[in-house]
Amino acid sequence: SRVLRVALAGCGVVGGGVLTRLQADPRFEVVGVLVRDPGKARDVVLPPELTLSDPAALLAREPDVLVEAISDASTGLALIRAALARGIDVVSANKQAVGGDLAALTSLAETSGARLLYSASVGGGAPLIETVRRARAHAPVVRIEAVLNGTCNYILNRLADGRDFDEALIGAREAGFAEEDPSADLTGLDAAAKLAILAHEALDGGLSPDRIARETLAAEAVLPTGRVRQLARLDVRKNLAGVAFRAVDGDPLFADLPDEWNALRVTTGDGRVFTARGRGAGRVPTTESVWADLSELAG
Ligand code: NDP
Ligand code: HSE
Repeated sequence: SRVLRVALAGCGVVGGGVLTRLQADPRFEVVGVLVRDPGKARDVVLPPELTLSDPAALLAREPDVLVEAISDASTGLALIRAALARGIDVVSANKQAVGGDLAALTSLAETSGARLLYSASVGGGAPLIETVRRARAHAPVVRIEAVLNGTCNYILNRLADGRDFDEALIGAREAGFAEEDPSADLTGLDAAAKLAILAHEALDGGLSPDRIARETLAAEAVLPTGRVRQLARLDVRKNLAGVAFRAVDGDPLFADLPDEWNALRVTTGDGRVFTARGRGAGRVPTTESVWADLSELAG
């Protein structure tokens, strides 16, 4: 089979992990890597001849696939649209870019005959999107409950041990779990974008992230007592969607959740329950998820 020409957007926690895997696999040829600051020191080998800072120059290298893993939602979205419009397949980890209007992106992809894959955008290495698809194939989805943000989970675990909020946030950033602007994690924007992506998989018509109520985690936040999680919930029958801090004692799916892990429970109309758990953030699990999408495209 032919070698797939890959354009990579972003070379940080996720992009750096993907680049290293691409460089070691003869099925792929990296034709360009888009970054914001070409002079920045990196923890992976980024050859200067591949380094670009202009999105148009990246697509001008005529890739077969765009892997989009940048931390800027609007640049990411513009790049995804431009790639799909040209018939270039896209693999994205960028939930803020993909989750805004997934129906429009999907229809753009259908029109141009390109494929849009986004496994890494929700759940890191945990198969959350796949579990929602499985549930929907069984019967209509009536409820989704999920821990979708590893940074909040990591911080909440430390607060429960009496640790300091600011130190916990620094730890989540150093581990590569937090967004470049961690307020996206703390205000629920990240989880809301992910819930919108899951809703797209679960429902005809999906759900806009703007319609998802959110609460913020901060040093001074007053949290429920007990084992607290940032819980994203969609109740189809009640027409409710939100991201809020809830006590989950007595619910082992969510209560016993290690640091950056995510967890999901989907309930269908006939009362059947589907669950999934796994590492939801960080270089290694997210790279694996991007890699699964790339391998699907490589055939
Ligand atoms: P990082 O902050 O580590 O890296 C972001 C990359 O994007 C950097 O290489 C940066 O360039 C580049 N970038 C940012 N803005 C621009 C721009 N305007 N033009 C060109 N390049 C730009 O982020 P992550 O790797 O952690 O995350 C990347 C994406 O993956 C995000 O959308 C995130 O939500 C998503 N994601 C992250 C996960 C994680 O655990 N970290 C898990 C799942 C998804 P430069 O290096 O020059 O600054
Ligand atoms: N910032 C995100 C989180 C990364 O903490 O879950 C994974 O999407």
